[in-house]
Amino acid sequence: MTDTSFENVWNALPFPSFVVTQDGQITDANGAAEQLVSTSQRQMRQKTLSQIFHENSVVVGTVHQAAKDQGSMTQYNVDVAIENKTTAVCNVYVSFLNPEQSKLLLVVQPTGVAQKMSQSLTNLSAARSVTAMAAMLAHEIRNPLAGITGASQLLAMNANEEDIELADMIAQEAKRIGQLVDRVEHFGDQRPMDPKPVNIHDVLDRAQRAAAAGYASHVNFTVEYDPSLPDTSGDADQLLQVFQNLIKNAAEAVDEKRGTIKVRTSYNSGVKLAMQGNKTQNLPLQIEVIDNGRGVPANLISEVFDPFVTSKSNGTGLGLSLVSKIIAAHGGLVECSSTEGRTVFVVRLPVWRVKKEN
Ligand SMILES: Nc1ncnc2c1ncn2[C@@H]1O[C@H](COP(=O)(O)OP(=O)(O)OP(=O)(O)O)[C@@H](O)[C@H]1O
Ligand SMILES: [Mg+2]
Repeated sequence: MTDTSFENVWNALPFPSFVVTQDGQITDANGAAEQLVSTSQRQMRQKTLSQIFHENSVVVGTVHQAAKDQGSMTQYNVDVAIENKTTAVCNVYVSFLNPEQSKLLLVVQPTGVAQKMSQSLTNLSAARSVTAMAAMLAHEIRNPLAGITGASQLLAMNANEEDIELADMIAQEAKRIGQLVDRVEHFGDQRPMDPKPVNIHDVLDRAQRAAAAGYASHVNFTVEYDPSLPDTSGDADQLLQVFQNLIKNAAEAVDEKRGTIKVRTSYNSGVKLAMQGNKTQNLPLQIEVIDNGRGVPANLISEVFDPFVTSKSNGTGLGLSLVSKIIAAHGGLVECSSTEGRTVFVVRLPVWRVKKEN
């Protein structure tokens, strides 16, 4: 077991990690951290976080906040300057390490490296370019498709039995194209949203009921809801689509007999998303869809949220792209992590706030 000593594991981790005291003194750092900040582990042990990053850096602020709240903190998409030299967009995670809560673990992960974490915001531009094409395609395909369906019905009227079968096949396939066009067109829907308070558990129950009655009837469902979860802000029908798509994907990935899907909700006050203009958005509502299926194919993991990415012969590859588009429109985030036997899609959403009239 000497090969897997803590020291080796710590230094082999691809995530730049630091152990720090509550007031920001670095007590340890791993190999990836050493590379990120180009400072040796020994030198870092004599420094504070403010010396490595910057006194006003989000990194220092996040550790400070976590220490103050006595909880864990995650900040997404923040600019991190390293000793004022290079700047990288990073996700910053902080959590307490020991029960006495005197030391914290800090992970500073440049987002370019975070392959397993596809964030919805980065997919917004891809979604937009598909949107314009979608509207045009839907329009151009509908008319000839109606012609094909009509002609196949006429053919069937005077045909012998064998040809009727072929005519039916034409009609069926035309119907399938029609459904695809509907989905693509739906994707292009750009109507502005009128945000309302939405109880996410109602949405999840609706999604689960629809799934259990249809495409996921073979799956064992469990739910673990945090009953005190506040409402989110948005459009219940669009959010229903999000969870239907996630549950459908999970149902398609699991084994016929032993497939399980778990839907879990929780409140996580330490999650913030950096926005333009130094603003941050709190995303405390956390909804996870977890399945025990075969996992996302390794070559797709970094692009699952992009349009037309699919591993299914009948798939459009628009399901997750739509999920990402809807969640981005709600100001939230969606992430995926997957290994064989455990795939987790995490949706993070803001809490509904009544707008103050002035
Ligand atoms: N829970 C999951 N487990 C394993 N792989 C998944 C899971 N969810 C998504 N994937 C992978 O991501 C790909 C893209 O999913 P997406 O929903 O966008 O399209 P699709 O399911 O292939 O097609 P459609 O949604 O149109 O039926 C899938 O083809 C699959 O390879
Ligand atoms: Mg899908």
